[in-house]
Formats: sequence, C-alpha cells, structure tokens
Amino acid sequence: MASPLVGTVIITGGSGALGSAIAVAIAKKQPLAHLLLAVRDTSAESVQQVIEKIRGIGPRSVEAARVDLTRFASVNEFASNTVQRIKRKDIPPIIALVNSAATLSYVSDPLTTDGFDPVYQTNCLSPFLLTVSLLGGFRAGTGDADSGALVLNIGCSAMSDGELDYFERKWGQGGSTPGTPLRAKEGNIRFGSSKLLMSAAMYGLRRSLRLAGNIPLNICTLDPGGMAGNSRLSTNMPSSVRFTHRTRASLRPLMRIFSKTAMNTTNVPAKIVAKLAFDDNPPQDSELDRYYILDDVYEASSIIRVLREQTKMEELLRMMMQQVRLGMEGMQSPSPAPSSM
Ligand SMILES: NC(=O)c1ccc[n+]([C@@H]2O[C@H](COP(=O)([O-])OP(=O)(O)OC[C@H]3O[C@@H](n4cnc5c(N)ncnc54)[C@H](OP(=O)(O)O)[C@@H]3O)[C@@H](O)[C@H]2O)c1
Repeated sequence: MASPLVGTVIITGGSGALGSAIAVAIAKKQPLAHLLLAVRDTSAESVQQVIEKIRGIGPRSVEAARVDLTRFASVNEFASNTVQRIKRKDIPPIIALVNSAATLSYVSDPLTTDGFDPVYQTNCLSPFLLTVSLLGGFRAGTGDADSGALVLNIGCSAMSDGELDYFERKWGQGGSTPGTPLRAKEGNIRFGSSKLLMSAAMYGLRRSLRLAGNIPLNICTLDPGGMAGNSRLSTNMPSSVRFTHRTRASLRPLMRIFSKTAMNTTNVPAKIVAKLAFDDNPPQDSELDRYYILDDVYEASSIIRVLREQTKMEELLRMMMQQVRLGMEGMQSPSPAPSSM
C-alpha cells in the first residue's frame, strides 16, 4: 500500500526563480508532501519545467493551480477550492504555505479592478487574504500555538526602504497617470513598503490567532538575501538598478566571503525553507515572533519596529481586514510579543 501523504505545501510563485527552487528542495526533503504550486498561468513553460524536475526526483505528488494575486476573486476561488478539497480528503491538510510570489514595477500602474496599486495588492494584500481564507485548511496542531502549520512569507531587505503609510499617501488618490516612469528610489520605496506592510500585518495576524486560541499557525518572514538566478523581478528593474544587481551577482563568490546573505543561488534559501517546513524540532517558544535572514533567527520587532506599537498594529490589522473585505468574528487585538532575544 502507498504511504499516506503527510500534508500539502502551497507555494505561491511556485514557478518563479525562488518558488520553483523551494518546490524542488521540499520534494527532495519530504517525498510524502503534496506540492500545490499556486501560479498565474498553469500552462506556462516554467510551470511544466518545475513539475518535470520534481517528477524527475522520484515519485512525488505535485500539481499546479491558478491564482492571480491582482484579483481578490481569484484568491478567494483558489482558497475556497483548496479548503473544499481538503475537507473532501482529496488532498491532505496544509502543513506549509510559502508566500513567495511578488511583483516589482518602476512605472505608475493602473489600479487593479479591486482598486489598489498592483504592487501592493500582489505583494501584501493578496498573501494576507490567501492566508486568512485558507485557515479552514491548515493542519490541526497538538494545541500548542505553533504546532499546526507554517506560513512563511518571503521578505526582502528592501523592506528597510519601506514606509507604512506609503500606499495611503501616494496611491490613495489614484496615484500618478498610469505609465509614468518612477525614479529608481521611488520604485524601491514602493516595493519595500509592500513587503514591510505584508510582514507586519502577518505578524499581527499571528498574534491575533494566538489570542483566539485554537488556530495553531506559526507565521514568520524569511529574507532570502540577494539571489543570483533567473528572477523575473529583475527584468522589471530600470537599467541602473539591474546593473547593480548583475554586478553583485557576478561578484557572488567574493561577496560570500564577507556576508553569507550577500548573493546566493536560489538553492541556498530554498533548502532553509524546506528545513523550516519539515523541522523535526520545531521552535518551542511560541510567544516569539521569528524573523529569519537565511537561517539566522531574530526577534521580529527588532527588524520591524512597528510590532512594538500595539495601537498602530491594531490599526494596521483593521485596515488590512477592511481592504481585503474580510470581517473576522472572534479575532482579538494583537499585542506586542515579549522581546526575549
Ligand atoms: N531575486 C532576489 O534577489 C530576491 C531577493 C530578496 C527577496 N526576494 C523575494 O523572493 C521572492 C521570489 O522572487 P524571485 O526572485 O523568485 O522572483 P520571480 O522569479 O520573478 O518570481 C516571482 C513569482 O511571482 C509570480 N507572480 C507575480 N505576479 C503574480 C500575480 N499577480 N499572481 C500570481 N503570481 C504572480 C510570478 O509569476 P509569473 O511566472 O506568472 O510571472 C513568479 O512566479 C519574492 O517575494 C522576492 O521579493 C528576491
């Protein structure tokens, strides 16, 4: 008799440079995981390539399903289908959700049909909505707050350029005329803001779920460091930013001598994600908000300062819930975690 699958792993951007490397690393680490690649276009060559690569490792359970993160309707449809399939026992409960998909743009884009800057909706609002909408599908834990499943948000050091009120300030009025080029600095702040808001809101969600008591989700951010490879994000960069990225990539072996996060292949962070998703000794201190930079762990509020401000965190979580049009009964206000690291 075939061994039962141990759980479903959902990877958004599962055919992207990092997402596909994570899928392969998980297929190698845990042969009994069901891999669900959440991708924009299931017929894309990159999707077929990663599925073939995974099947080449050995017998594996893998599939791709469509999700467009610029449309809440698509996110809701994906989440609802997935939860129904889990309830019918077509696929096992979710053991890990990796929010890896992201977009980068250096022009002022038209608002999405939901009324948001597409960078903000793709990188922040939709991963948040997806996580909340999948709550009914995560593996139940042993009762301990982090024992159930992992939600790993792929972060980025660009977050340090981010501003919490950026989208309200710049884009709340509709932004500038679509097609207007943005200066590199402005594009970086826009991208960093989307990543900062996503991470902060997700830690707020984790705290809120902990207070609600019965939803054991370990939600954290992992910054994969600089990566050499075929990231499609870099094709959207203006030439000045792309030049810096390429120069860093070509100096990778040298830069690694000075900093392990400077520039790696995608396999390095991918293996760390696979290890976190199937950790035999999961972290014990469930009070702690963990932020990973590769495999180094930090107390999240030492990196995302707003996590120390309860009122601002409450406002942020409320704003996110309103923007993704969710009413969550029984959710309680997040409070700062003790900074014990
Ligand atoms: N590359 C780096 O140096 C670097 C450094 C630090 C952090 N990161 C982070 O690593 C993560 C992965 O980046 P990457 O380098 O692997 O980039 P990538 O190759 O461009 O992958 C991004 C993925 O996101 C998907 N995506 C974009 N918009 C989408 C939408 N509307 N709906 C659904 N999927 C969408 C893309 O799908 P399509 O295939 O359809 O385009 C692609 O698969 C990102 O979160 C990024 O911020 C990257």
